[in-house]
Formats: sequence, C-alpha cells, structure tokens
Amino acid sequence: MSGQGEPFSMTARGSGPLAGTAQVPGDKSISHRALILGALSVGETRVTGLLEGQDVLDTAAAMRGFGAELVRNAPGDWSVHGVGVGGFAEPDRVIDCGNSGTGVRLIMGAMAASPITATFTGDASLTKRPMGRVTDPLALFGAQAVGRAGGRLPMTVVGASAPVPVRYALPVASAQVKSAVLLAGLNAPGETVVIEPVATRDHTERMLMGFGAELRFEAAGEGRAIILTGQPELAPQSVAIPRDPSSAAFPVAAALILPESDILVPGVSQNPTRNGLFSTLQEMGADLVAENVRDEGGEPVADLRVRFSALRGVEVPPDRAASMIDEYPVLAALAAFAEGATVMRGIAELRVKESDRIDAMARGLEACGVRVEETEDSLTVHGMGAGGVPGGATVESRLDHRIAMAFLVLGLAARAPVTVDDARPIDTSFPAFEGLMRGLGAELARDPGTGTA
Ligand code: S3P
Repeated sequence: MSGQGEPFSMTARGSGPLAGTAQVPGDKSISHRALILGALSVGETRVTGLLEGQDVLDTAAAMRGFGAELVRNAPGDWSVHGVGVGGFAEPDRVIDCGNSGTGVRLIMGAMAASPITATFTGDASLTKRPMGRVTDPLALFGAQAVGRAGGRLPMTVVGASAPVPVRYALPVASAQVKSAVLLAGLNAPGETVVIEPVATRDHTERMLMGFGAELRFEAAGEGRAIILTGQPELAPQSVAIPRDPSSAAFPVAAALILPESDILVPGVSQNPTRNGLFSTLQEMGADLVAENVRDEGGEPVADLRVRFSALRGVEVPPDRAASMIDEYPVLAALAAFAEGATVMRGIAELRVKESDRIDAMARGLEACGVRVEETEDSLTVHGMGAGGVPGGATVESRLDHRIAMAFLVLGLAARAPVTVDDARPIDTSFPAFEGLMRGLGAELARDPGTGTA
C-alpha cells in the first residue's frame, strides 16, 4: 500500500538544464491488464517491461489470491500461470488493492461473473473513492456488492453463479468501468455490449484481442459499441509493456520549463487514447517531437525529444479530457510557467481520482504564489511566464502520486524551493522517479529527518 512506512517529505530546488535520456517505467494501465488477462488464460503468459510500482504489485498479490501463480524472473520480467476464464478460486483473505482504483475496479469485474465471493479494501485514498460506478453494471450480470455508505470500500462482491450477458451504456467516460464490464463479460454466455459515448483508453480491448477474445466494434449514436463474445478460451501471450506516457509527462514537463534543457524519453506509448497532453503541449508552443514512431506489442510507441520552450497558455478542449485525464496535474504545474491563462474545462472526473485533483492543484498552486480559479468541473491557471513562479511552499500530496510529482517538477523551476509533505505515494506508479530526475540534473532530495528511508 502507498501508505506504508513513515511519511517522508521531498524538496525540489532551482535546477540547471536537464540533459540525457530518461528511461521511464512500464505503462501502469497495461501492466495491470497484463497480469489480470494472464491470470485469466490457461498456461504461461510472459510479461516484460512490467511496472513494478506498488499499484501493480498489489494487483499481482490479488491475482495470487484468486489462484494464479506469478513468478518474478528478473526485474520487470514476470511469468503468470493463469487459471483460465471462469477459473478464479475464492480468495481466503481480504484483497487489498492499496492506492489503486484501476486494480480494484478491474479485479472486481474479473471475478464478478464467477460463483465466488471476495472482499476488497484499500488505503485511505482508495476507501474514499466511488465503487458504485462498477458495482452497478456488475449487478446486471447477477453479482451483488455490499460496501460502506456511498459505495465505498471495504466492499464484498458475491459473484454471479449464473451470469447473464449485459448491454451497458457508460454514464461516465471511464476506461476502468468499461474494462470491468468487459472482464465480467468474459465469463458470461453470449454477447456483452459496452457503449462508450467518448473514447477512453483502449488497452483492455487491444489486449483482449491479443489474447484471442472475439471483439467487434460498431458505431452507436455519437460513440461506439464494443461487443464481446463471452466464454472464450484465452491463449497465454508474451506481452512487452511500452513505457508509460503518464510517467513520461514528468521529465518532459521539467525539461520544458528549465532553460537550455534537452532530453530524450525513449519507447513511450503513443496510443491515441492516451496522448492528449502531447497535442496540448504542442499548442502551448512546446518543442516536443515524437521520433522513430513504431509498433511494439500492439501499441504505437515513439522516442520523445524535448527541449526547453517558452510556453503560452491555452484553452484545453473538454473533449480531449479522456485522452489526458491523468496529465492535468502536471499540465497545471506547467501552465504556471506559461504566458497567459490555461483553461481546463470538463474535468469533473478529477475530483474522484486518488485525491480531488482540482482542489489539490488549486491549493498547492496558490501556496506557490500562482493565481488560479476553479469551478466544479474546471481549473484556470494564470501563468507567470518562465522563471516567474515564486514557489517557496510546502504542498500536500494527499496520498496522490501525480500531485506529488507535479509539485516537485514545479519546484525545479520556481524561484524558491518547493517541498511535498509526503512523497511516499510516488512509489505507486514511478518508484525510480527521484533517481531518474536527479540523473537528468534535477535538484531533488528527501528531507533528512523524515521517514525511515
Ligand atoms: C485507468 C483509467 C482512468 C485513469 C487511471 C487508469 C485505466 O481512470 O485515470 O489512472 O487503467 O483504465 P477512469 O476509468 O476512472 O477514468
């Protein structure tokens, strides 16, 4: 869990240019899915480039709880010996998904159409987040869920003993909900249909097809219907995980705001359902080029070349939100260094992430001397230009890895150091963050006397 150990704070200070190559970790979304689909196939799935962040390690432990055998052959190189669709065993202890909404929601989907019962919990962040968005559609398969008020964890899910296929139109743009329904649909007879009004990350669909499931796509109203034929036999695969664009965003952002920086971030996923930040940064005037675009393991990847750039504020189109949903914290930090205002609308979903990210960014930016405006579903950051951000504050990370990393990036280019009160959550998605950033030239350090590390 992200809350393990004593909290330790981390401080970022004014840094010189960043230079070199940033090998960011494997994609978090794809890592979860590789372990879950590996566990749902019969035989050995080999995964390379797996993110060994705490979120994914918690999913690995959960898959063991449901009866799969997982072996770590070498760093990032794992074998999953799966039990097949419908083969999950009933776990004999509580499944603790730590900080991970993706982990818990996908795993609930994966077990919901099997005749087993499981109890799920998580850390102080995850137990505040809504689970009704997955348990509502899972009830249509015949699963039952009992949790705390407001559909919060801890929660027990009783899987359907005679699951029926489902047709479900997503009320929120959520890849986690879409994926939970598709994973439950694997063990239901007939066709399960998910209607997605707005395109969200499509890693589940891509990987399901890679493992041999039958999927069709049809136009449906404004969006599309994803139609899964139930009860396939999934065939084990070799999965090479591309590097995470959401993690790449942090060194990319730091290079953009530190004068004379020039870095390379190789092998980053360019999946169009994930690269909204890339388009936004180009509109802001970023010198950011995708080189050597290629296909790796069914996902498009590229090497990103990034140089310091004078940025200008932009209006981010609301229909881009799904393709950069995890990148708003780092964009808000970057926007502080742009000329003019950056307006982010249609981002109400940020209020139910690992923290309320609109509030966390607004309060932290204000503490760093940046003027912001917020509404229920928007955030405006009034940029102060390169070199114009005062900093000099301690900011709360609120058990949210992306809030912690966004403010540490901001601190590298602010006039006075910025401290993040609790840097433990970074481990959920980017355990090598501190070392990687220092290797590029960032002045980043744990504060002595805090934590146990
Ligand atoms: C994810 C989907 C997104 C994203 C999260 C990972 C996934 O959440 O924010 O970090 O892997 O499916 P939502 O489905 O809640 O939008």
